[in-house]
Amino acid sequence: MSSKKSEITLRLVGKESAQTLSAIHEKCFPHYWDNEAFNDFFSVEHTYALIAEAGEVVGMVVYRLNFEQADIITIAVLPQFRRKGIARSLMAKTLEDMKWRGVEKLFLDVEEGNQPAISLYESLGFSHDRRRRQYYRQSDGTCTDALVMSKKFS
Ligand SMILES: CC(C)(COP(=O)(O)OP(=O)(O)OC[C@H]1O[C@@H](n2cnc3c(N)ncnc32)[C@H](O)[C@@H]1OP(=O)(O)O)[C@@H](O)C(=O)NCCC(=O)NCCS
Repeated sequence: MSSKKSEITLRLVGKESAQTLSAIHEKCFPHYWDNEAFNDFFSVEHTYALIAEAGEVVGMVVYRLNFEQADIITIAVLPQFRRKGIARSLMAKTLEDMKWRGVEKLFLDVEEGNQPAISLYESLGFSHDRRRRQYYRQSDGTCTDALVMSKKFS
């Protein structure tokens, strides 16, 4: 699977790209997931990843299908490539793939206060389902809530 949006190319990858996915994750999250973590994700059946390339890898999304349900495991775009529609393209391709595979409902977790991500998901038709209290531990020891969002496919 491959598609282009101006100079950005999207490509489906697997376990062989665990290192690349981890490198993007490290640049985008304070607590990053290492190579081993991504390897573990791919050890579960029906786990997929899309990378966005613009000469180099600039973004990625990892998702998992479980019959009629699916989860976004993570999505990230390098800071210097943000606000260019890359996450929207990654999500559009992901949603297209899920629809094609017969997914009926998609779930994700997002940290409260992560307004860029929440706005992205809302703009794609996700609704707020519930809150997981004190879900994310911060480096200063405090915890923040996770918002569980979902989207139904029609
Ligand atoms: C969230 C993230 C993936 C968005 O990536 P991006 O490529 O910059 O997003 P896009 O350019 O495709 O933007 C799509 C929409 O998201 C929303 N959005 C993105 N960045 C935003 C910001 N800084 N403030 C408010 N809304 C924002 C907007 O609705 C935007 O649509 P618009 O440009 O038409 O207004 C990126 O900010 C990121 O990697 N953040 C760190 C990792 C992270 O938090 N991942 C999500 C975990 S749940």
